[in-house]
Amino acid sequence: MIDIHSHILPGVDDGADNIGESIVMARKAVEQGITNIIATPHYHKGKYDNDKEKVEGETRKLNQVLYDLEIPLKVWPGQEIRITDELLEDFDHNQIITLNGLQYILLELPSNHVPRYTERLIHDLQIKRITPIIAHPERNLEIIRNPDLLEYLVWNGAYSQITAGSITGKFGWKTKRFSNYLIGSDLAHFIASDAHNTGNRGFQLKEAYKMVQKNFGQKVVEEFNENAKSVLYGIKVK
Ligand SMILES: [Fe+2]
Repeated sequence: MIDIHSHILPGVDDGADNIGESIVMARKAVEQGITNIIATPHYHKGKYDNDKEKVEGETRKLNQVLYDLEIPLKVWPGQEIRITDELLEDFDHNQIITLNGLQYILLELPSNHVPRYTERLIHDLQIKRITPIIAHPERNLEIIRNPDLLEYLVWNGAYSQITAGSITGKFGWKTKRFSNYLIGSDLAHFIASDAHNTGNRGFQLKEAYKMVQKNFGQKVVEEFNENAKSVLYGIKVK
């Protein structure tokens, strides 16, 4: 399996605290059946200054440690970028990294609303041949109240990523129900762990896929897997 959203890099955000925790997370990922994982530390100016160069350096270091320990997991660089109206500027200043440096970018909305400039940003990114993926829309209060907002963003070229724990019920039954609604409405394109640690914010990817298989069938699971592969290799999602 490929996991396109994780906080496995040590000491850069609210994910793994140190290299020891990154290693334990890596072992858990392997247990889940994950072979490739994109490290997406928060990029949130003033709070988490994880620019492109830093993420690439930390990813290289972690890969070396995993290789030395013979842990069969490959880490690729990325960011979870809190959207601002300065995002394109940061991109031009080489602070932003797309997922594995290719076609897709992972965007984080504020948890309580969808900023008015989101639609414009999605449009402008696509002009630069970058495809935006909205991280965990199922946890955004405005989208929960009005799912049409997400449908509109998707209609305008964005993709959406549901967090595994939302599907398994970790964030409560309402989030679970809404996640299933989004999957059933073709408004979900990826499932990813958004793992922060090995405790209360673990992977649950295997468990989530199992539930999707039960509720929506094996074909839908395969589509999610295929889509994650497309992100890693920078090819178009079918
Ligand atoms: Fe995240």
